[in-house]
Amino acid sequence: MSRAASRVAILHGVNFDVLERRDPELYGGITLNELEYRVAHWAGELGLEPSFYQTNSEAEFCGYLHRVGQSADAAIINAGAWTHYSRAIGDAFAVDPVPAVEVHLSDVDSREDWRQVSVFEGLIDDRVVGRGIDGYQVALGIIADRLGIGDG
Ligand code: DQA
Repeated sequence: MSRAASRVAILHGVNFDVLERRDPELYGGITLNELEYRVAHWAGELGLEPSFYQTNSEAEFCGYLHRVGQSADAAIINAGAWTHYSRAIGDAFAVDPVPAVEVHLSDVDSREDWRQVSVFEGLIDDRVVGRGIDGYQVALGIIADRLGIGDG
């Protein structure tokens, strides 16, 4: 049986455009382009078709989330600091939700208290934190399982 590749949206929020200039101990010192290149490779291995989006505009991020179900079957979301306080972004994702995994490069659960809160709680399938860029590979595997890909 042939079927279209499942589309997974890889969404990055505020400050990911300057990822390589942020604390390398926390965020790995790589560019967003390098991260996306690796993620695209892993997605392809799983038969997933990735798309990538990043913005520093909370309004644009909300607008994208309102329509995410039109362009993607699932999402991996790293909304950066917005994760911890933007109820607007949580509400925007609830408008047209798709199966989703929240990812953070750093271990937000063992950092400051305010980073241990997520506006996506209750809206996402799973979260992967503190595993650096490899966390995206883990998240893609979770998405593939969730979409029933690769299980014969
Ligand atoms: C981050 C964690 C957030 O707390 C922080 O604001 C970021 C990056 C991460 O990937 O570890 O911008 O989302």
